[in-house]
Amino acid sequence: MRVIVEPTPEAAAVRAASRVASLVRRRPDCVLALSSGSTPVRVYQELVRLHRESGLDFSQVRTFNLDEYVGLDRDDPRSFAAYIGKHLIRHVNLGRDRAESPDGRAPDPVAECARYEAAIAAAGGLDLALLGIGADGHIAFNEPGSSLRSRTRVKTLARKTLRANAPGFGDAADVPRLALTMGIGTLLDARACVLLAFGAEKAQAVQAAVEGPVTAQVPASALQLHPEVSVVLDEAAASDLARLDYYRETEVAQRALEAALAGGR
Ligand code: GLP
Repeated sequence: MRVIVEPTPEAAAVRAASRVASLVRRRPDCVLALSSGSTPVRVYQELVRLHRESGLDFSQVRTFNLDEYVGLDRDDPRSFAAYIGKHLIRHVNLGRDRAESPDGRAPDPVAECARYEAAIAAAGGLDLALLGIGADGHIAFNEPGSSLRSRTRVKTLARKTLRANAPGFGDAADVPRLALTMGIGTLLDARACVLLAFGAEKAQAVQAAVEGPVTAQVPASALQLHPEVSVVLDEAAASDLARLDYYRETEVAQRALEAALAGGR
């Protein structure tokens, strides 16, 4: 895991966005898995800025949303499909037909999960998954206890998640209890992952994910098994990490190496 700590959420978002942008430039037809929630909003803003000001071209990119609430139509403003549309798709040159999400209104949600996995495979697999983290360590909607090899499936949301996601619905009681979500195995098959976290309320989950044991009780800890993961944090989210000094030293050395390699080209 490459742990990158930036002074502010803004700087961390720019860092994560530049990772996505460099992939899009290198591989214009790349396949992205996209997270909802408040954390990636600034990343999407930066990608939109890069599109407008530097011509970052999304015309051949395909996106797959990580998850969706069961029962919500993609046009429902509370759906994650609408969220990604509002924050990214509408503002860049990525056709709506290239922006996929699990269908929360599918009559057979189990079959819909199988269809979604097949669609990801047919697209050639995920090149990069942009992930947030729940305060309980969940990624996408893989709640604690999720199988580390799980694929896209229906999950029951934990009470803590219902409370955290209540603002979009008015009340925790109105948040759908079920969601369709990519599994941990689906995410581990992505060629790269970027995990983003901001704020002190994420510090404990980040510490457990990065430095704790790999356990289904902290789904994000499964990312330790992935060879290509960047964890991009602001100072507050990094504040519980025991080996913070080492991550900072690593980052300085890594940047020097990258600059030397770029100079030699
Ligand atoms: C939801 C989403 C996750 C997201 C998490 C954290 O549960 N399913 O993909 O990472 O919330 O959201 P936030 O960034 O708002 O803290």
